[in-house]
Amino acid sequence: MKFWVRQRISVKASWNKIARHYQRKTRISTEDFHYGALAPGESKLRLLGDVKGKEVLELGCGGGQNTIALSKLGAFAEGIDISPEQINFARELARTEKVAAKFHVRSIDHLGIFSDEGKDLVVSSFALSYVEMLDNVFSEVYRILKKGGLFVFADSHPFTNRGRAVRVGGRSLWALDQYFKRGVMVWTWPRFEDGTTASFRSYHRTIQDYYDALTKAGFTVERIVEPEPVRMKGTKPVEETPCYAPDVAKEYLIWRNVPYTIIFKARKPG
Ligand SMILES: C[S@@+](CC[C@H](N)C(=O)[O-])C[C@H]1O[C@@H](n2cnc3c(N)ncnc32)[C@H](O)[C@@H]1O
Repeated sequence: MKFWVRQRISVKASWNKIARHYQRKTRISTEDFHYGALAPGESKLRLLGDVKGKEVLELGCGGGQNTIALSKLGAFAEGIDISPEQINFARELARTEKVAAKFHVRSIDHLGIFSDEGKDLVVSSFALSYVEMLDNVFSEVYRILKKGGLFVFADSHPFTNRGRAVRVGGRSLWALDQYFKRGVMVWTWPRFEDGTTASFRSYHRTIQDYYDALTKAGFTVERIVEPEPVRMKGTKPVEETPCYAPDVAKEYLIWRNVPYTIIFKARKPG
C-alpha cells in the first residue's frame, strides 16, 4: 500500500466508525478482567494481584469493560481511549452497572494529565500495537507508576501479525512469514452485517522488541505469558471466560495450536 494511503488512515476515525457494531457483536463481560478474545481472564491467570483500593489506569480501554471489572474489585479505576464513540459506550456501561469508573478521551501517547508516581497499576489489552512510539509510552507509564507499581499488558502475539492461514493435508496451519519485518501493518476489519468496515494501521514488533523497550524504560520484566486459548467445542467456549469475538472463534482450530495472545508483566523497581 502506498505511503499516502497509509497516512490517510485515522485509527480514531476507524474506531469511531465501528465502535457501535463492535460492542454489539462482541459483548465483553465486565465480571472478569479480560486479556483479549481467546485468553483466559484474570480470575484464572492471576497476574494483577489484589487491586482493592489501588489506583489503576487502563490504556486503550475501548468500551470500558476491563476498567469496570477492576472497579467492581474495589480499584479506583480510570480508562483512556482515543475514540469518543468507545468512551461514550464505556460511560454508559459504567452508569448502567452503577460503577464509579472514570473515562477520558485521550491518546495513549499523551499521559500528561496523570501525575508522577500516582498509579499502582497500569493495564492494557489489545491496544498498544496501534501506537507507533512505544518507547515514549513505556517511559510515560514508568513516570506515572509508583515505585514497585505494575504494568501489565496483553496484545496480539507477534506470530499472528505476520503470516496467513494455509490448508495442509486437511489441517489449518499458520504460515509465519517476515517475522523480522518490523513496522506498520495496514488491515481491514471483517465486514459487519450491514457492510460496515474500516481500515486500521498498527505496528508489528518482535517479542524481543517489547522486552528491550520495557527494560530500556527501566522496568523489570517479571513474566511473559503465552496463554493457551480458552477451550472451545466447535465455536462454543466451554470455560467461564468465553471467547467474545465470533470472527476469532471461527479460527479456533488454528489458535488452539499457535499463540494468539502475549502478555507482559513488568514492574517499576521499588
Ligand atoms: C481492540 S480495542 C480493545 C479495547 C479494550 N482494551 C478491550 O480489550 O476491550 C483497541 C482500542 O484501542 C484504542 N486505541 C487505538 N489507538 C489508541 C491511542 N493511540 N490512544 C488511545 N486509545 C487507542 C481504540 O480506540 C480501541 O478502543
